[in-house]
Amino acid sequence: MKTLSQNMLPTRFLVVLMLFLTAVASIDNKKCYVEPEVVVPDADVQFGLLLSLRAHVSATSDQPVTRCGSILGPALEQYLAAEWLVHRLNAYNNGTGYIPGVKIGFQALDDCGSPLFASGNALTFLDRWSPSFDQCPTSQVTPESNATKDPLPIGFVGASSSDIAMEVATATRAVPLPMISMAATKPELSDKNSYPTFLRTAQSDERQMNAITDMLQQLKWTYIAVIHINDSYGRSVSESLAQQALARGICIQRTLILTSSTFSNDLSSMLQQSLGNSLAVVFIGSSADADDLLYAIEKLGYLDGQEVKFGLRVILASSESSLLDSTVFDNLDTFGEGTLSVGKVTVNMSADLEPDMQRLLKNGKDKNALIEEHAAAASKSDLFKADSPNPLVPVTLHAVMALVEGLKTVHSAFCGRAQGPCQRMVKAVESGQLLTSTLNVKLDYETMDPDMVPAVFIDKKSIVQFDKQGDITQPVYTIHQYRKMNKKYQQVGLYQDGSTVLQPEKMHWLTPAGHTALKTPTSVCDGNCEHACIQAQGRGEMPLAIMPGTDGYIIGLFSIHDTDDKNPFDCGSFRFVANDAIVAEGFFYAVRRLRSMTGLNFGAIGINDCYSPLRSQSILQDLFSNLPSANRKAFPELGNLQLDQVVGVVACRSSGCTIPVAAFFMQLHVNVVSYAASSPDLDDKADFPYFLRTVPSDEEQAKVMLNITKAMGWEFAGLLYVK
Ligand SMILES: *[C@@H]1O[C@H](CO)[C@@H](O)[C@H](O)[C@H]1NC(C)=O
Ligand SMILES: *[C@@H]1O[C@H](CO)[C@@H](O)[C@H](O)[C@H]1NC(C)=O
Ligand SMILES: *[C@@H]1O[C@H](CO)[C@@H](O)[C@H](O)[C@H]1NC(C)=O
Ligand SMILES: *[C@@H]1O[C@H](CO)[C@@H](O)[C@H](O)[C@H]1NC(C)=O
Ligand SMILES: *[C@@H]1O[C@H](CO)[C@@H](O)[C@H](O)[C@H]1NC(C)=O
Repeated sequence: MKTLSQNMLPTRFLVVLMLFLTAVASIDNKKCYVEPEVVVPDADVQFGLLLSLRAHVSATSDQPVTRCGSILGPALEQYLAAEWLVHRLNAYNNGTGYIPGVKIGFQALDDCGSPLFASGNALTFLDRWSPSFDQCPTSQVTPESNATKDPLPIGFVGASSSDIAMEVATATRAVPLPMISMAATKPELSDKNSYPTFLRTAQSDERQMNAITDMLQQLKWTYIAVIHINDSYGRSVSESLAQQALARGICIQRTLILTSSTFSNDLSSMLQQSLGNSLAVVFIGSSADADDLLYAIEKLGYLDGQEVKFGLRVILASSESSLLDSTVFDNLDTFGEGTLSVGKVTVNMSADLEPDMQRLLKNGKDKNALIEEHAAAASKSDLFKADSPNPLVPVTLHAVMALVEGLKTVHSAFCGRAQGPCQRMVKAVESGQLLTSTLNVKLDYETMDPDMVPAVFIDKKSIVQFDKQGDITQPVYTIHQYRKMNKKYQQVGLYQDGSTVLQPEKMHWLTPAGHTALKTPTSVCDGNCEHACIQAQGRGEMPLAIMPGTDGYIIGLFSIHDTDDKNPFDCGSFRFVANDAIVAEGFFYAVRRLRSMTGLNFGAIGINDCYSPLRSQSILQDLFSNLPSANRKAFPELGNLQLDQVVGVVACRSSGCTIPVAAFFMQLHVNVVSYAASSPDLDDKADFPYFLRTVPSDEEQAKVMLNITKAMGWEFAGLLYVK
């Protein structure tokens, strides 16, 4: 192996790599680490397929290290499908290949579910590469490296989970090659400051919650409870749901974490409130967890002499692709009737893959080693089953295609009509052009050849395109409802292009008496709900002060207090670092001046945001949701204040607060002027067309610092900053 050139990878990589190698070296069991599977060994370019191909075997006292178990069927299907596609790409155009003269291959890098193995694999994969800009005089070019041509690494397809994707994207973030995941769904991965090379053909969970809040709003279920499992999916998604619900005026009466112990007491008290069939529940967890939940509900039986089994309406959201074939409800009598589930749409690739895969699976002459390894522990017959297609297969192929399409663009831009990987293309890939062109890919299967891409993608007119965050632009979810009669889910709606279309005429519900009804029941707060909702959420009521007016209102947001440590909706101690009490005073004074200058009777509303983005959003939502609220009661002079009475907003001190507040008002074409928010994000005139500020953007500060550095003649500077 060639020595690692020092200008290629930062020291951080080496540290991770060494940690990894140490871990591998100290292991005597062979199954701790698996060699990459190389597909198309004589390829010109190569991507790393990051898969959790083998099961994760956790460390125990007997076996103090993490190990790899047996091969998992669904991951093997992804591998075999990727191999199938790559061969077709290379065979295309009479063997010239989809990218003329460029032979594509990959290495399947099995992490066995371990983030440490995954980072090690990814860094080792990149380490084999001798970059074209390697002119380090001390690097030793060994004779072998002259003899063997190493394929050019073009990036990664994977990883198979959010947690692994985060690790690998962080470890390799300085190498500007795309990493496209088919399975990582955590919303955090959309943050391009933290994960600049990350893209995905998986749909972000944030969109799933968007589909759910959309559906809640259309069903007029504005009063709900949330139950979630306590894993990283459950926690991150329920947080996203809470934020989106708040923004739409949906009250979450209660949030419960699904645990075995404390659960029944909390659950009974929640059910007590839902006895009139009035409380809908959003459940976030896997179908196995849903099974636990429904079992617990069945065990509760009676409450206050009433049978509770019709008291819940549940929406299931899961990180799994589909809950549709789950057997959760099979043993549960009437439970589950009417349950809605939000699942990802998947396509059936059987017709495309079946003939080739069946040939592979047969015990032919040249057996596939991985299939044989899988068959030793399980049955071959569970691979590529036509009646339950693996939803990860199509999105894996989309990820491979996106990467290849990005490379095709770079190839034609830098090599022109020349065949094969020209030197200019290699340089362009290394310098980040492939990352840019992959982000801008627009893959329209309808225009492509069925000899190469799966026919089902052409039939479905599938399109692969990413937004600025690297998320696939067309999230599609289906909404299904469970029917106990035929023990099946039936489709009752679709979420596409950011909006939900429901078919209420297809929905069936159970009345509290247990009869089937077609009329959609409500889930709204009646009686005493002000108390239940606002108290339960602890959301920040109380504007600071109000000056009534008749010719439009100007809203001001100030940070008089700090945020409460425990509750982001509440206020902590007085904020001495700024003088916002005086600023607020000045604001009211200015509006009064404006009245006398214009002769218009402006009103003013001062809000204490307590330096919290959540609090400011919740107060605004509360003011304009038209729901009865503590604010409306405490400030009767507001009357029936409507959004269209707002003529301008002065907000906020922090950028964290200004960004959501500005986003809220941009949709309404209301000007927002900040007196202190300096984040460069707000310079984006596409997102914030009506945003102005009386302070310069931080970008200006950076320019001045650069000018000072230049003026001092410093050509070599270090950068130290607080994260
Ligand atoms: C493909 O190759 C075959 C044999 O070399 C040749 O007969 C055929 O014309 C070629 N087709 C195209 C489209 O170039
Ligand atoms: C390395 O490759 C170059 C160009 O192909 C050739 O001239 C040189 O002799 C090779 N060196 C060795 C040690 O094989
Ligand atoms: C949920 O998990 C987190 C992190 O593992 C833990 O700190 C917390 O106590 C758990 N909560 C419950 C109710 O189990
Ligand atoms: C997928 O398509 C195959 C035929 O190509 C069919 O036999 C199978 O039933 C389909 N699976 C599903 C789940 O629709
Ligand atoms: C930085 O210096 C350049 C050239 O001297 C000047 O044109 C520019 O205005 C300066 N920028 C700032 C922000 O001071």
